[in-house]
Amino acid sequence: MASRSGQLSWKRTALLGLVSLGHLLQPVAAVKETDFKKCDQSGFCKRNRQYADDVSTQGSSFTSPYEILPESASFRDGQLEAVILKTINDQKETVRLPITVSFLESGTARVTVDEERRQKKDVEFRYDTRARKERYNEAEQLVIVGGLTLDGNAQVTHQDESQITVKYGPSSSFEAVIRLSPFGIDFKRDGATHIKLNDGGLLNVEHWRPKVDYIYEIPDPDTEGQKPLEEAPPPVKREDETTWWDEFFGGNTDSKPRGPESVGLDISFVGYEHVYGIPEHASSMSLKETRGGEGQYTDPYRLYNADVFEYILDSPMTLYGSIPFMQAHKRQSSVGVFWLNAAETWVDITKTKASSNPLAKTTTTHTHWMSESGLLDVFVFLGPTPHDITKDYSQLTGTTTMPQEFAIGYHQCRWNYVSDDDVKDVDRRMDRYKIPYDVIWLDLEYTDDRKFFTWDEHMFKDPIAMGKKLQESMRQLVLLIDPHIKNKEGYSVLSELTSKDLAVRNKDDKNYDGWCWPGSSHWVDCFNPKAIEWWATLFKYDKFQGTLENTFIWNDMNEPSVFNGPEVTMPKDNLHYGDWEHRDVHNLNGMTFHNATFQALLSRKPGELRRPFVLTRSFYAGSQRYGAMWTGDNQADWGHLAMSLPMILNQGIAGYPFGGSDVGGFFGNPESDLLTRWYQAGAFFPFFRAHAHIDARRREPYLLSEPYRGIVTAAVRLRYSLLPAWYTAFFHAHRDGSPIVRPMFWTHPSEEAGFGVDDQLFLGSTGLLHKPVVEKDTESVDIFIPDDEIYYDYFTYQPLKTSRGKRVTVSAPLDRTGLLMRGGHIIPRRDTPRRSAQLMRFDDYTLVVTVNKAGTAEGELYVDDGDSYDYQNGQFIHRAFRMADGSITSVDAQGRDTRAVEAGAWLKAMDAVHVDKIIVVGAPAAWDRKEVTVQSGGETWTVPVKYHAAEKGRAAFAVVGRVGARIGEDWTVKLA
Ligand SMILES: *[C@@H]1O[C@H](CO)[C@@H](O)[C@H](O)[C@H]1NC(C)=O
Repeated sequence: MASRSGQLSWKRTALLGLVSLGHLLQPVAAVKETDFKKCDQSGFCKRNRQYADDVSTQGSSFTSPYEILPESASFRDGQLEAVILKTINDQKETVRLPITVSFLESGTARVTVDEERRQKKDVEFRYDTRARKERYNEAEQLVIVGGLTLDGNAQVTHQDESQITVKYGPSSSFEAVIRLSPFGIDFKRDGATHIKLNDGGLLNVEHWRPKVDYIYEIPDPDTEGQKPLEEAPPPVKREDETTWWDEFFGGNTDSKPRGPESVGLDISFVGYEHVYGIPEHASSMSLKETRGGEGQYTDPYRLYNADVFEYILDSPMTLYGSIPFMQAHKRQSSVGVFWLNAAETWVDITKTKASSNPLAKTTTTHTHWMSESGLLDVFVFLGPTPHDITKDYSQLTGTTTMPQEFAIGYHQCRWNYVSDDDVKDVDRRMDRYKIPYDVIWLDLEYTDDRKFFTWDEHMFKDPIAMGKKLQESMRQLVLLIDPHIKNKEGYSVLSELTSKDLAVRNKDDKNYDGWCWPGSSHWVDCFNPKAIEWWATLFKYDKFQGTLENTFIWNDMNEPSVFNGPEVTMPKDNLHYGDWEHRDVHNLNGMTFHNATFQALLSRKPGELRRPFVLTRSFYAGSQRYGAMWTGDNQADWGHLAMSLPMILNQGIAGYPFGGSDVGGFFGNPESDLLTRWYQAGAFFPFFRAHAHIDARRREPYLLSEPYRGIVTAAVRLRYSLLPAWYTAFFHAHRDGSPIVRPMFWTHPSEEAGFGVDDQLFLGSTGLLHKPVVEKDTESVDIFIPDDEIYYDYFTYQPLKTSRGKRVTVSAPLDRTGLLMRGGHIIPRRDTPRRSAQLMRFDDYTLVVTVNKAGTAEGELYVDDGDSYDYQNGQFIHRAFRMADGSITSVDAQGRDTRAVEAGAWLKAMDAVHVDKIIVVGAPAAWDRKEVTVQSGGETWTVPVKYHAAEKGRAAFAVVGRVGARIGEDWTVKLA
């Protein structure tokens, strides 16, 4: 849900009126861009960009003032430690910056630069504050969950006055060439340079300095009598000091007790034209240049989690979440970086073409990273495949949590279902129209006076009865719980929060008071472990009355959104646990709250160990461990529908693939065709939820007229029939971080023409290639084909005339989405429509085999109980299917002896689940027969085959079955 300050709401309503009058032909950008900073309104961004401009003006006469002291360097156990000297003040003064370069077992390298604590006077504060006098160094604790083991085989292979070379990584094929003066690092793979740090000389660590006039004004016993330090002129030219100690924006003052302390660095991707990642932005997946030029941006991509509702499209503006991970890709090579810094961050991108190679001009992408405070801490990945990058990155930050099975079904939400009767009515009507759904959501208004953990007792008279009603069809209820706690006497959650001292504090060390949905509020500080413990107590079934085992949670507004705060969030000089300034930790804030709720759901009842489901709006690297995200408060227009795809694909690249956009668009009233197309698209978002603003008209799918209602129902049912394929894709995301929906460059890293394609996706490794219609009055889609395989239309089995690297036009009238099946895959489905995902859990499977040019196919199915953690003890079924030489087989995908697994209740129940049909699309003539043999469990039987010869516009196909083999056992279907 969006923030709406009191003053703004009338404007919004007026505007929405206009939108519906205008029939949504024009996307309406209603976000007030001026509420958010541009780079030149953000002191440190402006200074770092100025630095970059000065460096470029000086050209070759510029030398970066950072050098490693040769005698300071030592290498041990995969780690290089040294001191970088920053020369300031015309050589008269230096600052010592300890640097650690760590070489990790995975082949990842990490470069960390800190600042040495100097004499007390140097870190004297401008203001009287408790804020910590260190660079923030706890991001690692919250973000990194593994992969930090040092590579014992890394070794220095060369060292002289000017450089140190370290070989590391798989078979020592990686190399870091550390240049001492000026400091810089080149990262090489197999002898070729891929990534360079500080090659452009933009390294800038704004060291701490005393505020001169402060020392004069208020003599301090420690500094009295000492000559104040001269202001240090920066290496290039005198800097703009106006925002060193205070910064003003939108009527707010940000006091900066530590003064300027930003870190900046240029990172070049040598020979790479495409870079992806650094979500969240409403922008293309392949990132644009940011320093002007045709079709490019003029501002850097910004990462500063904020409540930017009704966001504008095609913009580097910040949104609700941040993942400072970037991947660069070219033919046959992917590399990447992860900038571990939780402060406000901006990233400039420029590209240059070099013609040093006479045969081809290669493009190099230059990026310039700037963060307001904290350590300079960057991880470097050398690939070479996209999958390697994904694995290495997720080894550090963790993978997608295994979802609750219901969570990958369809979610019905709006602001608001107003009463328990309303909820039951929606539930009934979904059933009457036979539209499957799994979860109904309650936004803010279920609460009593916007006090979380309470109910509006007039409208929700009997939440337990409501929950039980949903339980009858194995459906769930999700409730909104936000981090702001109403500041109202007598509200027990508030008194616990304040008496236990668990709220975020302002710069004066008092509980911070801001304005959000309930009016005056305090914010729980989930950086405090005690706050997480306390938060968990609030969710116990007996404490949060009206909740049941089928109640789950939605965390909104956790950027945090503060209606009267600077840029709709908290003041940066607020204080968190450990006396860190909000400035240092801002981008982590949403994740700590999401985590607290996740932990709370884990411990609702002693002995109950079930997977939580928590949706978050704000996120950071690592949030994938706690649940789903969505792209926030979008609009009911075609542009926002189209933008969903690059945004969701980019989330997958950055390790957080469980995402979706509000189906239908949050603000405004979608026309029936737009809503229908959005359902078709949404059925292929990992997170599939419809949502609508309180001022929007009701739009539950059964309210649509025909033919729309039937088409939407079919789209939702298509999702449900493919749930086994989705769940298997989630399993891969959980296992190694693989995207759930995958862009072309990821699946086909050598097909250059696909590197910029971000409007279509593959579902996991199923070979299902989806491209929804995202434009009005459009009845076909041009689907990019990344290889030489056969592609069949999903609905008609038509083999398409395709050629690699080219687009093929596929008919997609309103009742059809662009969906192809790549030859060579076996796709698991469940074809009996039911009311919810859990009602399908013991249904038989259909397997769809798509025969490739070589006459073979492969596929997979992963399934577990979808609820507990028993899968960690072998309670799962993971099959590998293969078709070759006239037979189709199923074996355990992990080579386990499944009979040795002691079966729990779920696994036992799966004994009754079989393979029903097998549909062989593109079946060779050998399948033109009456029956085939099935062998399984030591038995052999025959089953019928119905063969359909190829005809115009349709490949031959065979339908086998009922097969009758147990899904969890080995089996073979044989022609002979
Ligand atoms: C999540 O909560 C656990 C348990 O309190 C804590 O150990 C961990 O550091 C927290 N992580 C984040 C990201 O807040």
